[in-house]
Amino acid sequence: MRKIMLTGPDGQLGRAVRKEYANDEAQIISVAHSDMAIEDLDAVLKRVSDEKPDVIINCAAYTDVDGCERNTHLAGRINAVGPRNLAIAAQKAGAKLIHISTDYVFDGCGNRPYVESDPPCPVSAYGRSKLMGEKYVSELCHKYFIIRTAWLYGDGKNFVRTMLGLSESHDEVSVVDDQVGCPTSAAELARMIHFLERTEQYGLYHGVCTGQTSWADFAEEIFRLSGRTTRVRHISSEEYERMNPQSARRPAYSVLGDQMLSLIAPEGGGFEMKTWQEALKEYLNL
Ligand SMILES: NC(=O)c1ccc[n+]([C@@H]2O[C@H](COP(=O)([O-])OP(=O)(O)OC[C@H]3O[C@@H](n4cnc5c(N)ncnc54)[C@H](OP(=O)(O)O)[C@@H]3O)[C@@H](O)[C@H]2O)c1
Repeated sequence: MRKIMLTGPDGQLGRAVRKEYANDEAQIISVAHSDMAIEDLDAVLKRVSDEKPDVIINCAAYTDVDGCERNTHLAGRINAVGPRNLAIAAQKAGAKLIHISTDYVFDGCGNRPYVESDPPCPVSAYGRSKLMGEKYVSELCHKYFIIRTAWLYGDGKNFVRTMLGLSESHDEVSVVDDQVGCPTSAAELARMIHFLERTEQYGLYHGVCTGQTSWADFAEEIFRLSGRTTRVRHISSEEYERMNPQSARRPAYSVLGDQMLSLIAPEGGGFEMKTWQEALKEYLNL
């Protein structure tokens, strides 16, 4: 039986992974933040050597993009040193490591989907810390999967829930329309993790729902599907930044193309992610 150690089990993705594996015979060992801080090398080495997992799935991260800007030290500790520690421990244990990264490693100045071979160039502290984490993982352990995802929503605080919450009290919400990306449900990403985890197709992947949209159009689709009459006022990132001066810079165009998934597809049995619209409907139980 496979033994899988899961960090960040109570985050959006961690919860989706636990649900995804509910019918898998694998034993899931959930290691919460209160049990182990991933930036503590000794604690990570001890826990991994005690548990001897076959696989480590790292869903732990410091995901507050604006918070990372104000606290770059903490961002580096959790998003770079954390995965570094897990990579060192995974290598010692001979375990596979599945680590999650982000579209924010790109600057967003492109005009076609970024593929895995495109050079990253983050414009925020969050993006820089996540890129460092990727580097450590790829340099320090052999059996790794790094999956870059984007605009994630699941069981937790996220854009979909924020919009639905705002629609309870507002007739109109202002949402940026000049940032384009790939909204991705945690359930879909968990399905991809489950698929890759049972292979030896190691490397760097983009893991997002297919298609692309702006935050404003995404909000409109959320309201349309859930029967809300709230209007969406389209605003520019510049206007948003004037209203929220503390906010971190975000890439304008961070659409990810999953070239690697399509390259391994013949052997991988043709795994495909759902469209962002299908995944959103599923999330809203429609
Ligand atoms: N959310 C997005 O839009 C998005 C987009 C692109 C990529 N990603 C990536 O996707 C992954 C999953 O994101 P998510 O949205 O599921 O995150 P999330 O909901 O914020 O959950 C993060 C989890 O990490 C735990 N954690 C935080 N600091 C920790 C530490 N020092 N040691 C151990 N555990 C710690 C948290 O526990 P506590 O709450 O107890 O601290 C929480 O359970 C992350 O790698 C993130 O960078 C997310």
